[in-house]
Amino acid sequence: MSQTKQAFEKHVLCIGAGYVGGPTMAMIAAKCPTYKVTVVDINEARIAAWQTDELPIYEPGLLEVVQEARGRNLFFSTDVEAGIKEADIIFVSVNTPTKTFGRGAGKAADLQFWEKTARQIRECSTSSKIVVEKSTLPVRTAEAMARILNWGEKATDIHFEVLSNPEFLAEGTAIADLKMPDRVLIGGAETPRGAAAVQDLVDLYAHWVPRERILTTNVWSSELSKLAANAMLAQRISSVNALSALCEATEADIDEVGRAIGSDSRIGPKFLRASVGFGGSCFKKDILNLVYLCEHYGLKEVASYWEQVVKINRYQRGRFVDRMITCMFNTVVGKKVAVFGFAFKADTGDTRESPAIYVCRELVDERAAVTVTDPKALPNAKRDLADIADQITWESDPYKAAEGAHAIAILTEWKEYAELNYERIFEVMEKPAFVFDGRNILDAEKLHRIGFNVYPIGKAPKTHIGEESEI
Ligand code: NAD
Ligand code: UGA
Repeated sequence: MSQTKQAFEKHVLCIGAGYVGGPTMAMIAAKCPTYKVTVVDINEARIAAWQTDELPIYEPGLLEVVQEARGRNLFFSTDVEAGIKEADIIFVSVNTPTKTFGRGAGKAADLQFWEKTARQIRECSTSSKIVVEKSTLPVRTAEAMARILNWGEKATDIHFEVLSNPEFLAEGTAIADLKMPDRVLIGGAETPRGAAAVQDLVDLYAHWVPRERILTTNVWSSELSKLAANAMLAQRISSVNALSALCEATEADIDEVGRAIGSDSRIGPKFLRASVGFGGSCFKKDILNLVYLCEHYGLKEVASYWEQVVKINRYQRGRFVDRMITCMFNTVVGKKVAVFGFAFKADTGDTRESPAIYVCRELVDERAAVTVTDPKALPNAKRDLADIADQITWESDPYKAAEGAHAIAILTEWKEYAELNYERIFEVMEKPAFVFDGRNILDAEKLHRIGFNVYPIGKAPKTHIGEESEI
């Protein structure tokens, strides 16, 4: 090991080889060839997959970046202890899900994985280290981390400097986001040691990120900025989704409204796409964490303000299913519904908190015959719906999924779903044939001409059978 130690300028370790740890470390290794980057995880299957070309997560462009560095200065291992001993800088990128038990259940972050990691770093370390919070954590977690790390007699020999460096990548575009981030945020203690540690991390990112995009702040601002950024992004979606309900009631068109408001340079055009609801592992979890923090500090009004973002998201999903049932003559019992897309967004196989989970469950409750298709997410979808898997049919080919279906529900904005041959699909469906476009990716006018009854989000439907009130 001492030979390796001399061969590299710095040793970077990442604990947690998930959606964040894997891609971020692959990028650091690719851009910093003089740094040795090791990614460790307790999940053996995940680590084994990172060592092959069948990576454990699907992310466009990721394999190429991994292949560039793997075996050169990027390594994957289950030996957490050896990794800790060798490291100068340790990124902690373990999962921080919402707590499901005890105090704060359903809102607070479950910090057990994070705390176990902190204790393990302390136990295994034989030299001083910079410990970087990469996971998304409640404000002032770094303080607790520093206490665990620097507690007891070890503190006299070695020192752990804790930094906050939240990750802002989005799945599906992770590689582009990592290559050219809008910003890299580094929070450190306002002490000489803190400043030196911040500089070490700035030097790492400066290998490829323009200096003016590397922001340094105090630790608490950095921790809070991550929660705040996700809350504000999700808030935009809930705002536009709330307006989509009003559009459907008034025959305004949410895409036109979005274009009009997004042209205001103060608002901007991004993140204004109405949908069946936002999903993903983080938006809901991070907002609820923010809500919990506000409640903890006695800020009831602030807490309920942010909680509303999650409530509207739930409402939007429920509204989508209600509309399906109402439009299909108030019953879907025994009717085949082809669900196009299960991933929480396009270009990922990730299904965590996907609106499709909720929509499928509600349709099965209503005794519809649900068939799910998705180009990348079927394995995860089967796990998510394992308890009702026998009531669902899984189909990789969307044309086959549509055979004999009364309705198609578009739940993920996969580009290929916009490019299907809908004349062919219409032929094989039951009539009247319905399309509920939960992502507004289809040409509603064209589908209507083919013969479909089309229900986009936040727009007047295009039907051949009249509105439900006339049925
Ligand atoms: P993930 O579940 O995909 O990966 C976390 C990994 O940590 C798992 O493989 C797990 O086995 C491992 N782990 C847990 N405890 C461990 C331990 N004691 N030792 C070694 N490994 C351990 O999670 P993720 O999506 O990568 O998210 C990680 C963090 O990053 C979360 O806090 C999340 O909020 C944040 N984040 C996620 C994204 C995203 O797009 N997924 C983006 C920005 C920030
Ligand atoms: C989001 C943030 O965009 C990242 O900056 C952040 O790092 C990450 O969360 C995190 O902390 O985990 P991600 O969840 O991967 O990234 O994907 P997004 O592109 O933000 O999409 C989230 C959800 O919102 C998806 O279900 C997407 O379909 C939906 N969405 C997005 C809309 O419904 N409308 C939009 O206009 C945009």
